[in-house]
Amino acid sequence: MRKLIVVTGGSKGIGRAILEKFAGQGFDVVTCARNETELADLEKSFRKAFPDIQAYTFKADMSEKLQVKAFTAFIAGLGRSVDVLVNNAGYFLPGEIVTEPEGTLESMINANLYSAYYTTRGIVPLMRQNKSGHVFNICSIASIKAYANGGSYAISKFAMLGMSKCLREELKNDGIRVTAVMPGATKTRSWEASDLPDERFMTIEDIAETIYTANALSPRSVVEEIIIRPQLGDI
Ligand SMILES: NC(=O)c1ccc[n+]([C@@H]2O[C@H](COP(=O)([O-])OP(=O)(O)OC[C@H]3O[C@@H](n4cnc5c(N)ncnc54)[C@H](OP(=O)(O)O)[C@@H]3O)[C@@H](O)[C@H]2O)c1
Repeated sequence: MRKLIVVTGGSKGIGRAILEKFAGQGFDVVTCARNETELADLEKSFRKAFPDIQAYTFKADMSEKLQVKAFTAFIAGLGRSVDVLVNNAGYFLPGEIVTEPEGTLESMINANLYSAYYTTRGIVPLMRQNKSGHVFNICSIASIKAYANGGSYAISKFAMLGMSKCLREELKNDGIRVTAVMPGATKTRSWEASDLPDERFMTIEDIAETIYTANALSPRSVVEEIIIRPQLGDI
C-alpha cells in the first residue's frame, strides 16, 4: 500500500510544492482548498505528471469548523492510515493590533489556527491506529519574531507554534512526530504586489525539500522546529 500525505491548502504555493515533492516520491496525496476549478486542475495535472499515484481533492473553506470536519470525514472514509499531515492552509492579513479592522483576529485565528486544530483532531486518530505519523505545522518567522504590520497574523502564528509544542509532547509516545516549520519570505501569490527581486525570496521547492527530508529521518529522531529564511535575511 502506498503512503498517504494530507496537505491542507495545496492548490498552489507552498502546499502545492509539498504535494508535488511527495507525489514524486510515490505518496498518494489528499488536499483541499476553496477554489474548485483549481482543485480540478490539480487532479488533472497530477494524473499526467504522476500516473502511478492517486490524488484526492476536496472543496472546503478551512476557516469553517464544519467544513474542516467534512474534510477529515472524507479522509477517514478512504479507510486508510495517514502517514503525513501538513497543516498549511492559511493567509496573511497585514495590520496592527490597535488599528486593524475589528474581526481581523477572528479571521486569522479561524483560518490559520482553528483550521489546523480541527484538522489535527480529525487526522491524528488515523495515525494512532498505526502508531506512526508525522504532523507538520506551517507556522512562520512571525511565530518567533514580532514585526511591523504583523498584527493578528503574528498572534495566530505564535499560537500555532504553541500548539505544535503541546502536540509533540502529547504524541511522542504514540510514535507520531510533530514539526513546526517557520519559513521566512517565500515567493507565492502572497508576495505578488512586491517589487523586490526573486533572489530576496525562498522558493516553494526549498520548503518542500526541507519537509521531505525531515520526514525521511528514522522514527528515532524528530526535527522539532525548522527556521528557514532567505539567504539575504528577512524582508
Ligand atoms: N509565502 C510566505 O512567505 C510564507 C511565509 C511563512 C509562512 N507562510 C505560510 O504558508 C502557508 C501557505 O502560504 P502560501 O504563501 O503558499 O499561500 P498561497 O500561495 O496563497 O496558497 C494558499 C493555499 O491555501 C489555500 N487556502 C487559503 N485559505 C484557505 C481556506 N480558508 N480554506 C481552504 N484553503 C485555503 C489556497 O487555496 P484557495 O484560495 O482556493 O482556498 C491555496 O491553495 C500559510 O499558512 C502561510 O501563512 C507563508
